[in-house]
This record gives sequence, structure tokens and C-alpha cells, in this order.
Amino acid sequence: MYFLTTAIDYTNGAPHIGHAYEKVLADVIARYRRLRGEEVYFLTGVDQHGQKVQQTAEKEGIHPATFAKKKTKLFLNLWKKLGVHYDGWAETTDDRHKACVQAILSDLKERGDLYKKAYQGHYSVRQEQFLTDRDRNEAGEFGAEWGEVVEIEEENWYFRLSAHAAWLKDYVSSHPDFVIPGFRRNELLGALANSADLDLCISRPKERLRWGIEFPFDPDFVTYVWFDALINYISFAGYLAADNAGLPDFAGIWNTGRPVHVIGKDILVPAHGVYWPSMLHAIGFPDERLPQILVHGWWNMKGEKMSKSLGNVVDPDELADKFGVDALRYYLVRDIVTGKDADFDLDRLVMLYNQELANELGNLCNRALNMTARYSAGVVTTGAATNADDHALRDSLKAVLGEYRAALDAFDVAEALKAINRHVTVCNAYAERNKPWELAKDPAHKPRLDSVLAHLVESLAHCAVLLSPVLPDPAQRIAAQLRMDNLLDLKLDDLQWGLVPDGHETGKPKPVFPKIVTEEA
Ligand code: MSP
Repeated sequence: MYFLTTAIDYTNGAPHIGHAYEKVLADVIARYRRLRGEEVYFLTGVDQHGQKVQQTAEKEGIHPATFAKKKTKLFLNLWKKLGVHYDGWAETTDDRHKACVQAILSDLKERGDLYKKAYQGHYSVRQEQFLTDRDRNEAGEFGAEWGEVVEIEEENWYFRLSAHAAWLKDYVSSHPDFVIPGFRRNELLGALANSADLDLCISRPKERLRWGIEFPFDPDFVTYVWFDALINYISFAGYLAADNAGLPDFAGIWNTGRPVHVIGKDILVPAHGVYWPSMLHAIGFPDERLPQILVHGWWNMKGEKMSKSLGNVVDPDELADKFGVDALRYYLVRDIVTGKDADFDLDRLVMLYNQELANELGNLCNRALNMTARYSAGVVTTGAATNADDHALRDSLKAVLGEYRAALDAFDVAEALKAINRHVTVCNAYAERNKPWELAKDPAHKPRLDSVLAHLVESLAHCAVLLSPVLPDPAQRIAAQLRMDNLLDLKLDDLQWGLVPDGHETGKPKPVFPKIVTEEA
């Protein structure tokens, strides 16, 4: 089983482009693994607790539960619109999740991994965390990134993170593939080398924060939002769940492969790189059962972080309406290297869609289907007069298949798309060279015409399958026009020359990628 999760999105605001990117990226990976023939379970969801949700709800004068539900709907609707197809949905207010978090708290207490102590010091309201002198900037102050910082004195529950620090350093150093890509792992190693090995405060007194999961053995406290949220990866995978809870069988999901968590770079240190492996280790997960963390970069705006205060946030819902879901999905994974940051640029969204899909692939669709309809009554004839040019085209496809697989195995979606595009360009150049429209003028050239058309149709069928993890709907539309309705049931290993049988009748071509015309054009 390939168990894939994403970060669960905070419901203190509406979904933005970063959320959409992460979910589409994970959706593409899930679809690709299925194409490889693997069984996949894709879990995503929303993080509904915490101070930010409570505060924003209070401002609106509604209960945090009502507020979180309302925001959750926006995420659910967007994933539906964008074709993000998940198998499990994690909402942290779900009773099954609460029960799991509480059972883990009790377990950790019994193991001696929790203790209660009084603390006096600084607290960042925005980041919902206690600050130490290490968090001060060079001027000795708590910088703007911490928002409002207040002094508080209170008793809280602590998780003995320090007791697992030596194990963690050893684990991360000896497991090079725990965090990918490698340069993100180096960031974690750097942070671990400089860490002060402090324990983690995992409670908030109810008088300050109501909106969280209650401690089962101390009901005046609720859990820290991160402690609650991280557990979603196992609670919704069925960890400690009753048989009738409607959740997957935990062992079947977690223990049969390597779970992969897809997250953004901002939540690697400390949440996913320090807290989470330490929590799993503390509750008895052996090293070989720890997940792999795939860290993606951020979509920025002209080099700057997108933020409400800068007014440079783009709304994925509006973009999908304006440019279409296909263009948005394509751009989100085409113009960024997994792991690195990229600048979100609408001109490039339009340019890449128009150039690579509407023009190049659109051209191949049109040539393959239109000319087969026009010159051969829609009938594909294979095995006719092939020549060296045909073999070069087959070689191109073979090479592209290898490059595509290698890229997606390494989570590099942009490289995989570039590989498809290379073959599409090769096909269009092949059509230009072989000029089926000229061959069609002389019946003596019919065998050659048949071969050229068959090579274009066969290539198109392959491209539809390869494109399907990123653009499932257009791939299906191409399959329908090819009159190969079961084309997308094929697995990657089935992709060998000869998908389109001799005598196959293709359907009528209809534009699959209508060109985006911008107002300025
Ligand atoms: N709720 C926590 C995650 C808990 S996971 C156990 C959280 N939520 S978030 O809504 O702030 O972010 C959700 C995901 O979106 C994170 O992985 C984050 O990195 C990602 N992104 C948020 N803004 C982003 C961009 N501008 N670009 C790309 N991804 C970004 O953190």
C-alpha cells in the first residue's frame, strides 16, 4: 500500500494557492502511483483547532465549531473543483481523532513521557508558542514574525522531547531518505545540530484556549494545536481505532510500505522533522516504521511571500473559474521544481498552457485524429511502410517513457511534463517532415500515409496515459476521441508500442485544450 498524506490546512482562513499546490501535487503523486499499479490511500484534510480559529471565530461572533465548519466547506469545494481525489478526509474535530489523541496522551503519560510544570515567560500569540531567548533577533527583541508577544505565567503539560533528542539526531543522520529532497534534509540536520534539546509544551489552559482536545487526565487543559494535528496521520489511518470506526486497517496502511507525508518547507523544522518522529518513537514506532517527509517549496509573488497584509494573495478558486481547472493544475506542477520555491506568474500560466497544451499537444491531437478521419475514414492501419523516421519516433517515445518514470519516481512532476512535451514536439516535427496532407494526394503513397498516421495516433494514446496523473479529464477526453475508453485503465508497464490495434476506428476530434485568450491579447 502506498500511503500518502498532505499537511492538513488551517481553517482560520480561505484556501490559497499554496494549499492548492500541495493538494494537486499529492493528487498527481497518488494518481501516478496507481498508474504504476500500486494500491494507494491518499489522506488529506483540515486542521480545525487552535487559537487562531478561536480568535477569528470570536471576531465574527460565532462558535469556533461553526466557523471551522464554514471554512472546511471552502476546502472541500475547492478540492472537488480541482479534481483532487482523496480516499480519506481528516477533520481534527472528528470524535475518532479526539479519542486517538487522548489515548496517545494517556499512553505517553504512562510511559513517563509527560510531566506538568509551571513556566513564566514570553508567548507568541500568532505562532501559539512559548519563546525563549534563542528566538530573539540580533537586537535582542522578538521580531515581527512572532506578532504580539505577551508575558505569561502558567502551569502546563510537557512532552519529554529532550529524552528522544539523541535518538533523533542519530536517526536523521543514519536515514538519508527520511527527508527529501536532500537539501531540505540538510536544513533539518543543521537545526538539530544547533538545538537546545528543550521539552515541548503540549497543553494550553482552558481559561486561555477552549478550542482544542481536552487532556483525558486533566480536563482543565487542551492539547497544543500541533500535537493534535500531527496525530491526524495515524488517527485517520486507523491507529487505535475501534473495528467499527469506519477507518482503514492501520497495519494494512502504515506497515506495508513507507508512508509519505507531503508538506511545505515552513513546517519541516520543528513540527515534522523534530516533534513528529519523536512522538512516534515515544509511542513505540520502530525506526523502520517512520514515514518519509517530502518537502515542497513555496509559491511566492515577485520574490515575496504571499500574505494578506501585502495584498498579493491569489485565490485558486477564482483562477480555476477564469483560466480553467486544467490550466491551473498544469501550471501548479509545471512551473516549480519540487522542493524549491517559484514565483507565481499569471502570464506564464497562460503562456505554458497555450504553448505546451493548446498549441503543441492540441496540434498533435488535431493532426492524429483529423487527418485519420479525413484521409482514412478514421481507420488506423498499422504495420504499413515504416521507415527510419518512424523508428526514430518510436525511440523518442521509449526514451521519454524512461525519463517520465524516473522523474515521477523522484517526485519531479515538472521534469515528467517536460519529457511528455519533448515527445509531442518530436511528433509534430515528424508530421511536418512527412507531410501526410501531401501523401494523401497520391494513392500510391497510401501505405506511407497509413504508417505516418498510425504513428501519430499511437503516440497520442501514449501521451494521454502519461498526462493522466496531472490532467485526468483531458486525458479521458483524448481517450474518448480515440475511441479507446479503457485506455486509462492501462498501467505504466503496459505502455508498449501497439496500444492502437490494426483496423481500429478513431472518433471525431474536438479541441481538448481551447486556447486561453487574455484581455490584453
Ligand atoms: N495546519 C498546519 C499543518 C498541520 S500538518 C499536521 C499548517 N497549515 S497551513 O494551512 O498553514 O499550511 C498548510 C500547507 O500549505 C503547509 O504544508 C504549507 O507549507 C503549505 N503552504 C502554505 N502557503 C504556501 C505557499 N505560498 N506555497 C506553497 N505551499 C504553502 O501549516
